[in-house]
Amino acid sequence: MKFKPSHLLGALGMSLALAFSASAAAAPIVVKFSHVVADNTPKGQGALKFKEIAEQLLPGKVEVQVFPNSSLFGDGKEMEALLLGDVHLIAPSLSKFDRYTKKVQLFDLPFLFDDMDAVDRFQQSEKGKELLNSMRNRGLQGLAYWHNGLKQLSTNKDTLQRPEDVKGLKFRIQASDVLEAQFRALNANPQKLAFSEVYQALQTGVVDGQENTWSNIYSQKFHEVQKTIAETNHGVIDYMVVTNAKWWDGLPADIRDGLQKAMDQATEFANAEAAKLNERDRQRIVEAGKAKVVKLSADDVAAWRKAMEPVLKKFEADIGADLIKAAQESNKK
Ligand code: LMR
Repeated sequence: MKFKPSHLLGALGMSLALAFSASAAAAPIVVKFSHVVADNTPKGQGALKFKEIAEQLLPGKVEVQVFPNSSLFGDGKEMEALLLGDVHLIAPSLSKFDRYTKKVQLFDLPFLFDDMDAVDRFQQSEKGKELLNSMRNRGLQGLAYWHNGLKQLSTNKDTLQRPEDVKGLKFRIQASDVLEAQFRALNANPQKLAFSEVYQALQTGVVDGQENTWSNIYSQKFHEVQKTIAETNHGVIDYMVVTNAKWWDGLPADIRDGLQKAMDQATEFANAEAAKLNERDRQRIVEAGKAKVVKLSADDVAAWRKAMEPVLKKFEADIGADLIKAAQESNKK
């Protein structure tokens, strides 16, 4: 066959088409991870570590985009965005799942866990791990628990030592009926607000106080608009990293395995960092000298515990007595 220029063009076109389809096939899968806190917090650090490890384990195959500080979706929207496929990973606090399962409300019960080691023991137990799969029928797959830490209580008042001191005050809470009941048990007025709105609500006096971890208080500057922070350690703020079950199940197996491996390693890292970051930020708050940090006596703590105790009974049927008992047992080493 005689060579014609059109053959050359044809071959060129073919190889261009091949190159194009090869590069299209090799385009990395974009994994969007949206969250509501600052980079410099346990969750923020966990998300960045996940990106680093996932991109190392799956070079050129995935690109993880992290959106901190409610910059893509705030807590009102992130769950729906996940279910719609607009984002692929989120890590809401365990207080924000009650529309999807009543069981995860367990973590909001006041004074349930003695310390973060007990929280960790429960999360790693069979019952704890089962909760990661408890929302599959709602399209959510839990991939890991991430720690933040224990909650402290703050107000715009000079005195914050005993439960009586919060009577009649307005408190911002996360979207959780358990937390609502907790503040009602204290004769205070809870108000559900998105995390991104808390600073302004405190600053303008829309609410008098809030409950959060040291790292969230410091990174959001809540201590600059509060007078007193009592070291109550009355509950926990931890996270479940969740994905859209359908999206996750539909990923190529090697990608899913790699992402799960990255998640496991990021979890180990984030959970080891959480206590350090909270301790660091507690110290920074003390040093900033804006809000006074108040220590409680054993007698004070007992009074808070007693005042909040009715909440456990109130939610026992919803959550399940067996689950509550299992959590309480994790307090024993
Ligand atoms: C809050 O809404 O107070 C926090 O739980 C936010 C977060 O994700 O830590």
